[in-house]
Amino acid sequence: TASTLSGGSLKTLEQFIIERESDSPGSTGQFSRLLRDLALAAKVVERDVRKAGLVDIFGETGDVNVQGEVQKKLDLLAHEEFVRALRRGGEVCLIGSEEHAEAIPLQFDDCQGKYIVLFDPLDGSSNVDVNVSIGTIFSIYKVPEDHAGPVSVENALQPGRDQVAAGYIVYGSSTILVYTTGNGVNGFTLDPSIGEFLLSHPNIRTPEMGEMYSINEGNYNSWEPGLKEYIKWMQTEAPEDDPPRPFTTRYIGSFVADFHRNLMKGGVYIYPANARNPSGKLRLMYEANPMAFIIEQAGGIASTGNGRILDVPPEALHQRCPVYIGSPKMVEMAKSFLAGER
Ligand code: AHG
Ligand code: MN
Ligand code: MN
Ligand code: MN
Repeated sequence: TASTLSGGSLKTLEQFIIERESDSPGSTGQFSRLLRDLALAAKVVERDVRKAGLVDIFGETGDVNVQGEVQKKLDLLAHEEFVRALRRGGEVCLIGSEEHAEAIPLQFDDCQGKYIVLFDPLDGSSNVDVNVSIGTIFSIYKVPEDHAGPVSVENALQPGRDQVAAGYIVYGSSTILVYTTGNGVNGFTLDPSIGEFLLSHPNIRTPEMGEMYSINEGNYNSWEPGLKEYIKWMQTEAPEDDPPRPFTTRYIGSFVADFHRNLMKGGVYIYPANARNPSGKLRLMYEANPMAFIIEQAGGIASTGNGRILDVPPEALHQRCPVYIGSPKMVEMAKSFLAGER
């Protein structure tokens, strides 16, 4: 109806945050301000992404980042926007970013009650110059209660199960922000005409079973046998009736966009170990962990193939891990093939 379209009956992110302030971590309002800082940065990046091609933010910076990837101008621009918003907000003591080798301390005095934010400022960089959906992924931890003094990267290396919040933004056909604080998953769509994120997807639950699988089949030769069996089963042997057949492959090279589609419609995204990446390509702290928190809160599963992603003990800011994430029945099926049980 017109009122819904105009956002008349929709709730803004601000209103939602204030309503939920009681059950969000550290309900002193600090956490709410942190979420607002992230939403502000997302709006700035969204504005830049929409202009890509018109202003000189296509192409590469000429640098190679700590990942060994050629850094895109928009990688760096998004990184700088989020750092600026978090520095100005004053709620964050330490930042970890895909685009920065070291953790970035924001305040040196007492960090009691402050937050640590780890993020992938621009996920799907290879898609920037060709107008395919990209996104930002963030993961939020609390500075450990018993911590005194400045915060260092060791304080950020907490297992994913200890995150206080996680979320992502997809800069796609519309711009949507999805996050969880451990009380379910909610999605907010940006209405650019009023510059507000409006609650468009309350209490997102992912389907038990899906028809889509997302994996780069170009790496087929380096997959472990159980994975080859699983993909082959989906392509040839899965029974006609249950699960629904035929399966469809959907892989666009932006984890955040593939994840969001599978979250909403059901499906599994897999980035396994392969010849080039013996521990997989996705980074634990700011890609696998935040999405694992979200998918579990939406009723899904996130596994390394050997164990729960949220239980992986972190050792380094940029460490990688294999990712099997999405509809519970599809991830369990993959795990049974990997374990040679089928
Ligand atoms: P990023 O752009 O942040 O480096 O992440 C890219 C990741 C992920 O978004 C995507 O699904 C995957 O890399 C694609 O990797 P391949 O090109 O190896 O399939
Ligand atoms: Mn990258
Ligand atoms: Mn990424
Ligand atoms: Mn990135």
